Amino acid sequence: MNRGLFITFEGPDGSGKSTQLELLRGFLAKQGLDCVVTREPGGTKIGELIRHIILDNGNGEMSDMAEMLLYAASRAQHVDEVIRPNLEAGRMVISDRFVDSSIVYQGYGRGLGDIVRRVNELAIGDCIPDATFLLKAEPKVGFGRIGAGGEDRIESAGLSYHTGVYEAYLELERAFPERMIGIDATADVDCIQQRIRDKITELIALHGRAGTA
Ligand code: TMP
Repeated sequence: MNRGLFITFEGPDGSGKSTQLELLRGFLAKQGLDCVVTREPGGTKIGELIRHIILDNGNGEMSDMAEMLLYAASRAQHVDEVIRPNLEAGRMVISDRFVDSSIVYQGYGRGLGDIVRRVNELAIGDCIPDATFLLKAEPKVGFGRIGAGGEDRIESAGLSYHTGVYEAYLELERAFPERMIGIDATADVDCIQQRIRDKITELIALHGRAGTA
């Protein structure tokens, strides 16, 4: 059986990824496509426990290295338990965030650099996304959407941290134009969704695989 398509969604906090993913999930279900929608950090029982530790505002003393390794640990479990088995069974897997988040939030944002890529190579092995939708919105737009007081430990890292993260995303988009599909996240919700659906339909036709139920 052909391996399923692996699609990831990336973008700054508050860029509207979750809304778009929910709309997409409904569309794909209507098409009869057998796909798994999952998220990081999380996506497994162990990953969700790790998510709680990372995002808890009570864990302000967490070192940058510990943070990066926890994201990678959640990812290693996610790849082994959910992503790889489903791709190998021919299903499409769509993940809300994946390794690009660690590259920009920990590699660039926390200043850990290339070690993030090397550690994550161990976590993901050959599970590299076929396509990544990057929802682009300046951090100040995202912060407006999250609203004061609703922030977790990463969201509360401050505007200059998040501006650096956003610039790193734009750099990734330039570095991997064949994989990353940049979308203006300030556009109308339905227009964004249509672009995503068109691109996924195109990818399915191109790869001849998606995971049909
Ligand atoms: P979410 O709010 O999109 O679910 O993501 C949780 C937070 O974790 C978000 O602020 C981005 C951050 N994050 C990282 O810093 N590194 C990572 O590797 C991942 C997956 C998320």
